[in-house]
Amino acid sequence: MIITIDGPTASGKSSVAGAVAQVLGFYHLNSGLLYRSLAYLLVTIRGYSEADLFLVKQDDILICMDSKLFSYTYQDGKISVSYNGSEITQFLKDSLIDYYVSLISSQALVRTAMVSKQHELAAMHNIVTDGRDVGSLVFPNAEYKFYLNASLPVRAERWRKDQFARGHNYFLAEAESRIKDRDTRDETRKISPLVIPLGATVIDSTALTFQETVAKVLSYIQ
Ligand code: C5P
Repeated sequence: MIITIDGPTASGKSSVAGAVAQVLGFYHLNSGLLYRSLAYLLVTIRGYSEADLFLVKQDDILICMDSKLFSYTYQDGKISVSYNGSEITQFLKDSLIDYYVSLISSQALVRTAMVSKQHELAAMHNIVTDGRDVGSLVFPNAEYKFYLNASLPVRAERWRKDQFARGHNYFLAEAESRIKDRDTRDETRKISPLVIPLGATVIDSTALTFQETVAKVLSYIQ
């Protein structure tokens, strides 16, 4: 079975997907982390500068996503991403990666590679997956589809808290402006923009607690 949760930046979809996966005993495939891994690896392993990220080369994608070197695992409720045996998970949520990933995620070569990586990782599992196009494009035949949203101030505050925990302090106005920029880039790109997938249940979590949001998703499935 495939359950998809799409939504804009900091809508809480990854945490909700993780919790739903744990309750159901499913595999959690966080597609944002795959895009983040590629951005991180292009810079650190392939030596990309910010300017290089505007036009990613196929050979570099193949090297970064090589199944013999790149590993995404989900075990006991924990996602672990590593490259050539070294754990990289802890670097992927950095605000610099937020920016770098938005430069590469609109490119056709990148999206094609990411979609096949998602299909490869999803094979043989019951999955809960979250992202921007998982219900619309990657898994259009998923059994359950959700679109999770929340107001901009609520999402900005969540993102700000998350960054604070990582040692970065942003004013709320700065957080709102960054989130808005990412929303615009994700919604207006030509290839697989963020949309509400056909048949998706829309959940607005602005006034819901995390537990209430998870319970709401589960109520449609159970
Ligand atoms: O979900 P998360 O914020 O970690 O995703 C990081 C970025 O990766 C998004 O801003 C978006 O540009 C890109 N992404 C995407 N399609 C997905 C998942 C993520 O374009 N399915």
